[in-house]
Amino acid sequence: MTRHFLVDTDLSPQEQAEVLDLAAELKANPYGRAPFAGEGAGRKTVAVIFDKTSTRTRVSFAAGIADLGGVPLIIGAGDSQLGHKESITDTAKVLDRMVATIVWRTYAQAGLEEMAAAARVPVINALSDDYHPCQLLADLLTIREHKGALAGLTMTYLGDSANNMANSYLLAGVTAGMHVRIAGPEGFLPAADVVAAAEARAAETGGSVLVTTDPGVALADADVVATDTWVSMGQEDQKAARQDLFRAYAVDEAAMERAAPYAVVLHCLPAYRGYEISAGVIDGPQSLVWDEAENRLHVQKALMTWLVEQSAQDISASGA
Ligand code: CP
Ligand code: NVA
Repeated sequence: MTRHFLVDTDLSPQEQAEVLDLAAELKANPYGRAPFAGEGAGRKTVAVIFDKTSTRTRVSFAAGIADLGGVPLIIGAGDSQLGHKESITDTAKVLDRMVATIVWRTYAQAGLEEMAAAARVPVINALSDDYHPCQLLADLLTIREHKGALAGLTMTYLGDSANNMANSYLLAGVTAGMHVRIAGPEGFLPAADVVAAAEARAAETGGSVLVTTDPGVALADADVVATDTWVSMGQEDQKAARQDLFRAYAVDEAAMERAAPYAVVLHCLPAYRGYEISAGVIDGPQSLVWDEAENRLHVQKALMTWLVEQSAQDISASGA
């Protein structure tokens, strides 16, 4: 069975820990694994498709694929027939005869599901409107590096709580056994099915879920405080309204006073200082955002290695 990573819960709690362990190993020894090169390796090229703009995801996948002995093929919006002249399914059936893995940043989660259903190679979600699971692997590695462990920590996310980052904080956080608190205004909270999936996962791991409109409740004694832009890609026409709507959920000095004194701060970047996060906080001593950005490289290398190896093992075990 080919393994894909479309949503945070596609990795079980144990598998998430394995990927984070491998990421730490590859961070210490960057050329230690070469799933796309050498004897026994399959195809060498990895397709990385962007329907939205990107700095971190583009560079970390390109650099990571090269480190793993592969060749990145970056395909920008409008550079291929995908979405214009050719269906997702037909694209998947062509790509999987030529590349080892497909990485895709797009709008609809359903598009990623269609790609994965048709592709016989791993498909990785590089951000959709609903989830950003690669980012959460980087966030978890960063927290683990600074706190030693994940299970039992309280992680609070403030701001646009109906977006991809809020959903992924919930699902990836509880998968790691964390207590995840999400705070945003009414109407901008995670959808009921995402909360239900997070609660089900939390019941397995000892984590918990709290969704609230009260930023003070969410922040009380938090070990990790995270936020994201109030205006995600594709929402630029709502910018002015959103900047008013989320103001009470800014991660600023007053918010950090309510968190635990040793709390660390995360932001997936790009950040808008003076809006979702103050300059003093993002550039201050509690901020881990640059480690977090670097860790995209290490976790994605681990994820690609793990998915390729796992898929090969599953296929040989099934005799396919
Ligand atoms: N955090 C993140 O995914 O950044 P990019 O949009 O620059 O890839
Ligand atoms: N929520 C943001 C994340 C950017 C990495 C967006 O989708 O634009």
